Parts: sequence; C-alpha cells; structure tokens
Amino acid sequence: MQTNPPHTLTFTRPDDWHLHLRDGEALAAVVGHTAAVFRRAIVMPNLKPPVRTTDDARAYRQRILAALPAGSDFEPLMTLYLTAAMQPAEIDRAVDSGIVHGVKYYPAGATTNSDAGVRDLADVTAVLERMQERDLVLQVHGEVTDPAVDPFDREAVFIDTVLSPLVRRLPKLRIVFEHATTREAVAFVTDHPHLAATLTPQHLLLSRAAMFEKGIRPHLYCLPILKRESHREKLLEAAVSGSPQFFLGTDSAPHSRITKEAACGCAGVYSAHAALALYAQAFDSVGRLDRLEGFASHFGADYYRLARNQDQVTLTREPWTVPDVYPFGAEALVPFRAGETLPFTVSTSGATLGR
Ligand code: NCD
Ligand code: ZN
Repeated sequence: MQTNPPHTLTFTRPDDWHLHLRDGEALAAVVGHTAAVFRRAIVMPNLKPPVRTTDDARAYRQRILAALPAGSDFEPLMTLYLTAAMQPAEIDRAVDSGIVHGVKYYPAGATTNSDAGVRDLADVTAVLERMQERDLVLQVHGEVTDPAVDPFDREAVFIDTVLSPLVRRLPKLRIVFEHATTREAVAFVTDHPHLAATLTPQHLLLSRAAMFEKGIRPHLYCLPILKRESHREKLLEAAVSGSPQFFLGTDSAPHSRITKEAACGCAGVYSAHAALALYAQAFDSVGRLDRLEGFASHFGADYYRLARNQDQVTLTREPWTVPDVYPFGAEALVPFRAGETLPFTVSTSGATLGR
C-alpha cells in the first residue's frame, strides 16, 4: 500500500462480500453505486421468490449485468437460498457452474424475505454434507428466531444452539458468519480458523444508542440489530486486527423510504453509496487506515479462493455531503448518513465518486 499521509491512500480495489441488489427498478437504482467502487460482490439471494437454483442464479446474474452502467467491469458473485427442499445435486450444479460462490442459510423468519428459510438444520443435512465435500461456502444469518429470546441476544444464542453443534458435526464446512455484531461472534470465529465473518459499516460505526438519538431512527434499523458500545468496540478491534478471518461485507439493504418510515418498518440499512468511505472513517477513528486494504481488498478474495483484484482505488481525506435521498424507481431511498458530511472521498482511475 502506498501512503501519502495524511491526504490520500491508494490500494487494491475492494470487493463487497455481502450485498443486497434486489431486482427490477430497485436493482437498476442501486447497482451503479456498488459497481463504481467494488470490482465484485457476493449477491444475496433473498428475492421474492428467492434464488433457489443454479438456473435462478444464472438468470439473476444476467439481469444484474444488464442493469450495470455502460462499460462497468463489475462481477456479481451469486449465491443460492437454502430451503428444506434443496437436494444435494443442486450443490453439484452450483459448484460446476462456476458462478455460484455460496449458499445462504436464513433461519425461517429471521429477517427480510426469510420466510422460505430453514426451520431446522436437520432438514438439510444431506445438502450441508455435499457442501462440505465440494467445499462450497455456507453463509449464515446468525440469529435464532424464537420470539422468547430477546432480539439483542439472538446472535449469541444462535452461536450456542445452532452454529456450535453444526461446526462439530461438519468440521470442514467453511462458514461465513454474515454481519457479525457481537463479541461472542468475534470470539467464536477467532476460535475456528476455517470460519470467517463479514462486518458492516453501521456495526463498526454505531452502537444501539444511535437508533434512539433524540427520537426513533428507522433508517438505522437493520438485522441483526445494532448492539451496545462494548460489542462495537470488539467488532472494530477484529476489523483492524489484520486477521484474515474478518472482511468487508456491507449488507447494504435498500428499502424504499415509505417502507422504512412506517408503523412496522423494514429492516435494512443502505450503505452502497458510501461504503468504502464509511469503513475508512471507522478504521481512521482508531488510527488504523493501514489495515483497511487487507480487510477491504485481500481477505475476502482469499477466503473465497478467488484472485485478488489487480486495479486500484484511491481514498482522499476530502469531505463530501451525502444526499438526503436517492431515486429508487418511483420511490425514494434514504441512504446511511443522509445529509451528513463524511470525511473521505473515494475515486477509481479517473472518476471521483460520492458527489
Ligand atoms: C436484509 C434485507 O433487507 O434484505 N436486511 C437487513 O436488515 N440486514 C436482510 C439481511 O441481511 O438480514
Ligand atoms: Zn444481508
């Protein structure tokens, strides 16, 4: 990494290892934000209906490519949505396709569009065994859905009651603990060197107090929900640690303004418009911008056994103000940090972004 302190930092172009792109008009509205900075992204399969088969993934991939701005070299890395109906032969088709890079496990009812998810992992044993054999990554939404468990405890309880038994039963299955939000998740992943975790910008920058600052803040509501400050500190420590088990996954999850500002609002924070700048701010807050390249641009590619990117991105300590809204089909999309000024600007060869 070259540094010209304190103003610019040029390093390997990053990838986003957890992204929601949606479909149709919403896809067209958001994909350019990600493609402007990130070379690749793991695209989550929680569409309605979900991306269940390799054929579904192939078709969705074509729709993403068709929605890209002219000249973009962005590459969508596809995933399948695990359901109780999936057969082991689907895993073979997925691996052999070369376009599917993981299978996402949503506990049924845990989050947005998870109703088709799995109720009991025992229902998918043969599929998980085939994934272990074929070395296909399992991406987990790590929260239990039992309404008796407090929402702030659902991740820790998931680790004890679901993940830990799974890792014992299938000790070679590679698992990404998606959007880790607790010290328990950091500790569990650290203890299991063949596991990894993605970390979102909002969980590195904010604790749960931000959701209630001077009133209720629906645009900061996502799942897993923001946790207390001591968890945030552990997440940031893991992110800047230089451990290859922790890498960038924004979980950028666009929902229209009216579905967020509602009596029963949707879960999801939209961060694709400013993702790398937000991570830079988090790393800079502890003086560890030097650790950003590994986290954003090396460790995810290494874990997924893909080549690191060849091109570069430049981060400049130059403030810009996030718009209040972005267009979102016929609706509006309120981005993370709407109307606020961010300290870093990102540019790729020639183009300055985030203006
Ligand atoms: C995501 C979405 O909207 O698709 N929402 C969220 O709060 N993170 C789903 C998910 O990743 O849980
Ligand atoms: Zn997600």
